[in-house]
Amino acid sequence: RHYSIAVIPGDGIGPEVINESLKVLKTLEELHGGIRFSYEYFDWNCQYYLQNGRMMPKDGLEQLKNHDVILFGAVGDPSVPDHISVWELILPIRKGFQQYVNLRPIRLLRGIDSPLRYKDHDDLDFIVVRENTEGEYSDMGGRLHAGTPFEMAIQNNVITRQGSERILQYAYSLAERRKKKHLTVATKSNAINHTMTFWDEVVNEVRKDYPHIQTQLYHIDALAAYFVMKPESLDVVLGSNLFGDILTDLGAAIVGGLGLAPSGNINPEKQFPSMFEAIHGSAPDIAGKGIANPIAQIWSVSLMMDHLDLPELGKLVLDSIEDVLVEGIVRTPDLGGSCTTKEMGDAIVAQMKKS
Ligand code: NAI
Ligand code: MG
Repeated sequence: RHYSIAVIPGDGIGPEVINESLKVLKTLEELHGGIRFSYEYFDWNCQYYLQNGRMMPKDGLEQLKNHDVILFGAVGDPSVPDHISVWELILPIRKGFQQYVNLRPIRLLRGIDSPLRYKDHDDLDFIVVRENTEGEYSDMGGRLHAGTPFEMAIQNNVITRQGSERILQYAYSLAERRKKKHLTVATKSNAINHTMTFWDEVVNEVRKDYPHIQTQLYHIDALAAYFVMKPESLDVVLGSNLFGDILTDLGAAIVGGLGLAPSGNINPEKQFPSMFEAIHGSAPDIAGKGIANPIAQIWSVSLMMDHLDLPELGKLVLDSIEDVLVEGIVRTPDLGGSCTTKEMGDAIVAQMKKS
């Protein structure tokens, strides 16, 4: 079978970790004769913006549309305001392709110690589902009374019935396939009294269809504390766009840091391509040094394989990452080692070939 992959390396460490992911994809192809990947590269990043005045061409989504999946590095460079690089590239892809599920596993890999030292591997294995098309990341709003003492900015939070129902149904279907059969939903309806009360209402309606799943609503602040104090109680966690974003950087921190945290932006109906990326950004502080940890991006390739209904390939990638970590010799600086991005990628590829 043949799969076409759109590759957007982006800025900073994006291209560095994408390089290692491409080696992994090529190795998968070598090891499994029946599968072919083809690649189309897109140079859409902050450099492109400085030359063309936009982050991607007008027909950018058209160009991506016919690929099976998108492999995305990261965008963002100090030369372009972050709200431009994010709003003109990553958000249009997520929203335009109805990638309404942002799937972010929080799992302590074998060979990694959690900074929560009293927790072991079984305690740290859950998955965050982040709503990825609406919520707090809405463009509705604006600024008023510039230059006066009454200057203000307003940004609306958009919660729709359809958007909430579909993400809940996805979260439940995921919970049904897991051992604990447990869904924790983030809210803040005590203080955000229009949108979040509506969100709670939809949760309480949809949960009736899933009586065999234990559902709990927690205020986001309390839930943040649970991530640290009792992560073993979590199974599937659902959050709105902003809450899910913040919770998953915290989630990454408790399982070893941003260098280890993958994600999939998924259109479950497969009507449009889904997109796979590390949850970290372009990390300008370490870009160009060749020391970024490529594991988050390589694990995202594993999620991509699962999405393409090639779970045995996804498992091979993730097992190989863990085997290299257990060996403990090759580690990037964020994991306390001194190896390079390339050495880490090479070690994972070598392990894949051994398995
Ligand atoms: P960041 O995730 O790029 O970096 C935060 C910290 O984590 C930095 O100290 C960085 O060195 C470290 N880090 C991140 N990934 C790492 C890796 N693979 N290996 C080792 N260390 C790693 O977040 P920050 O600094 O808030 O944002 C930097 C730029 O990235 C901004 O322009 C921001 O808008 C953009 N960004 C883009 C995202 C995307 O493309 N989806 C997501 C988040 C941020
Ligand atoms: Mg984030």
